[in-house]
Amino acid sequence: MPTATSVSVLLESGTFGEIVMTRTPRLSWATATDAADWEQDGAEVEWDSTGGALIRELAGPSAAAVAWPFSPLATGQRGTVRVRVHAKATGWSPWSEPVPVRCGVTDGWSAAWIAHPGARAEQCPVRLRQAVSVRPKLRSALLYATAHGVYQASVDGIPVDDERMKPGWTHYGDRDTYACTDVTALLTEGTHAVAVDLAAGWYAEKFGFNGLERYIYGSQPAFSAVLRLEYKDGTVEEVVTDGTWDVTDEGPILSSGIYAGEQVDARRREPGGWVPAAASPVTHVPVPRTSPPVRVTEELSPVEVIRTPGGATVLDFGQNLVGRLRISVDGPAGTTVTLRHAEVLEHGELALRPLRRATAIDRYTLAGGGPETWEPQFTFHGFRYAQVDGWPGELDPADVTALVIHSDMRRTGAFESSHGLLDRLHENVVWSMRGNFLSIPTDCPQRDERLGWTGDIQVFAPTASFLHDSDAFLSSWLEDLALDQTSDGSVPFVVPDVLESAAIGTAAWGDASTLVPWTLYQRFGDLDTLARQFPSMRRWVDWMASRTGENLLWEDDFQFADWLDPTAPPDRPADAKADKDLVATAHLFRSADVVAQAAGVLGDDAAAQHYGDLAARVREAWLRQYVTASGRLMSDAQTAYAVAIGFGIVDDERRDAMGARLAELVERAGYRISTGFVGTPLIADALTDTGHADVAGRLLLNDENPSWLYPVTMGATTIWERWDSMLEDGSVNPGEMTSFNHYALGAIADFLHRRVAGLAPAAPGYREVEVRPLALDGLDRARATFESAYGTHEAGWERVGEGVRLRVVVPPNTRATVHVPGADAPVTVGSGTHEWVAPATVRTGGTASFSVDTPLVEIRRSDVAYGAVREALIAMLGREGASDLLRTLEWGPRGTFRMQALLLPPGVVDAVDRALAAV
Ligand code: BGC
Repeated sequence: MPTATSVSVLLESGTFGEIVMTRTPRLSWATATDAADWEQDGAEVEWDSTGGALIRELAGPSAAAVAWPFSPLATGQRGTVRVRVHAKATGWSPWSEPVPVRCGVTDGWSAAWIAHPGARAEQCPVRLRQAVSVRPKLRSALLYATAHGVYQASVDGIPVDDERMKPGWTHYGDRDTYACTDVTALLTEGTHAVAVDLAAGWYAEKFGFNGLERYIYGSQPAFSAVLRLEYKDGTVEEVVTDGTWDVTDEGPILSSGIYAGEQVDARRREPGGWVPAAASPVTHVPVPRTSPPVRVTEELSPVEVIRTPGGATVLDFGQNLVGRLRISVDGPAGTTVTLRHAEVLEHGELALRPLRRATAIDRYTLAGGGPETWEPQFTFHGFRYAQVDGWPGELDPADVTALVIHSDMRRTGAFESSHGLLDRLHENVVWSMRGNFLSIPTDCPQRDERLGWTGDIQVFAPTASFLHDSDAFLSSWLEDLALDQTSDGSVPFVVPDVLESAAIGTAAWGDASTLVPWTLYQRFGDLDTLARQFPSMRRWVDWMASRTGENLLWEDDFQFADWLDPTAPPDRPADAKADKDLVATAHLFRSADVVAQAAGVLGDDAAAQHYGDLAARVREAWLRQYVTASGRLMSDAQTAYAVAIGFGIVDDERRDAMGARLAELVERAGYRISTGFVGTPLIADALTDTGHADVAGRLLLNDENPSWLYPVTMGATTIWERWDSMLEDGSVNPGEMTSFNHYALGAIADFLHRRVAGLAPAAPGYREVEVRPLALDGLDRARATFESAYGTHEAGWERVGEGVRLRVVVPPNTRATVHVPGADAPVTVGSGTHEWVAPATVRTGGTASFSVDTPLVEIRRSDVAYGAVREALIAMLGREGASDLLRTLEWGPRGTFRMQALLLPPGVVDAVDRALAAV
């Protein structure tokens, strides 16, 4: 009797509901079975559409992102797809549930752009309208719509869907994307009023800094749409945007901007001032939007009502989030409620300085005559706190709700451990991803920026690919990156390139062009994106290579390099300890190496040879230039070693020595983080891979300023831009660039998933994983789960008695190579749940007694001894004095407290000595 198997099918990841924005949707299917070591040897896919059912037989194990095995779908075509799978041991599975599929792609574009014809105020939204008559026997109505701006369409006052900020931000003009919405249910027989609210959005926002802000695309929004009505008798009618539409700028939304916020006067619900719309031809045919839609994904209620020292009413939502507020209010007509937003409080009031030019104020003027519910439509804010002014009567916090909005991606990855602060750090990473994956991957969601900074997503993409199914989202953004690249291959700082920075490529930022597609290939098995991006990838490497001299070193160009190194002064974030040219050339090596590997995967042997050879020569040049005779790096900084080890530049001989030097530098710094954007995602792996997992663990679990956990101890609920966006005294960092919601430094979460819990992808799309967990001191357990196309993978461990129990769940059709701690060789296992108990690694005994003459590194390695020193210093110097001293001491293998404390007030050394003796 064969074991029961069942199959579930997943459509292309940018797809929500049945509408797919491609004619050839990729299919994935997961098999559930309790058969051990189950591997598919074949599958059948059935497509049932008008004209009957077709079946395709596929040989082999492929089940993730499988190419559409039928002819491309026709516009509007519908049907269902189902799959059954075969394995020798279990025979054929039953067919999966049928999954409905409908093609949301249309050909050509018969509609015009329409806009208000008059000269108008900046950021003043418009309303467009058209009467649509529907004959009897309508079979289906699909609305294909795009905007230079953001829009929502309604039929007889009912919004066509629950999406926000449509159609999102792309390289407008060259790549306008349309959404396809099924509006059949709203269009019964008769005449209907189709209306569209259209606002500036990203299109008519002013971008730039320091007085250079300006319109990049245009100052007024425009809209274009095709409403395709298909009748049961087979006739098709198209209602298109043209000069017969009417438009007014006297609607209720007075103004709306991404940075400024939205002002609404509800008394203007029935606007006058209608004039014929100005129509202009569409020169670039819009393309289907493949990035998932933006939606409200969660609602939060205030956790506290705060009366500020200045007398204002502030609501605390308990979580720094991205979205807007919905209010329910009842009061006299003409009353205006004002909502201000901020991420943190400073001196008890909203800290607005970090928002810079983004005023982030929403205003609602009541229509009166009964309860009114309102949410701004075309803006979003990054906030935890909201100040409410002008509320009629007593404010009931239940009348204000925070709506969390972002691109609605499937959550796929989770992590948890025995360490409360570490788990909160991970949660903060998740929130920062949610807040900054809103149509494009942004640096931050609150100030006058919110741009697609390439460096930030370059370091964060592996983490993002674990937490959510971000394949379609990032793949869509990469199309814009390629469009924004200069003809000779340079990549801008931000995509879409509203800073017009494309000519000045910089290392680590421009490498988003190579490393993000490579990540999507490794994490999702997305070969299509890799193939599509390959020309862009190689052009970036060619451009970097063109910046080098004969010596193959990339020197003397502008670089952000190890941006936001914690010792860089607040107003000079690029002043890192690691040499910028060393970092730049290391990225040339890394990207050339990745392009060579990608070429290999794509079967382009000549390119594989060319870039492999380039990588080898750059590596030689780098080693020659930057490694000293004794094997140190000429730039003796943690990021430099992390790059050398992490990118695989250093040869095996010198690798261990470099790892040892890196560990020593980390210990000297007292396990306080010393890296910026470049070194931070690499350092924990570099330590672990060279045998210093213990040091990586202490670095990870340290909670002193600066560290990953310091913000958590300060109440952070998202990842901060700076290690100390908030200083220890609760004031906001004086740097003019201080956000509390920046995912870049959260790239460490990838280490938590892959190394601490031990769930690392080993073959594209997680068909194979490598489990090599780290039972770090300070943790009693850790666990990660990931939903790949194949099903749920899990790896985790917990301490039991003297040992560590390892648990690994392998979904059908995949394998795991497991390194059981203490075992000589790894084991490879197939589907099922597997457990091992391994002896815990013996913790090093450490120093038995301490004094002011003990090497400082030994004191720092002992939590008790270090705690004793800290307490003694607080008693003698006060909190601030103790904290300053502990930060500046060098916790090296040779120095002692007595030697380093020469300039301390009398008595301090003795007090510390007494405290150490008592340990
Ligand atoms: C952004 C970044 C970005 C950086 C580059 C900042 O203004 O917020 O995160 O990568 O500039 O210099």
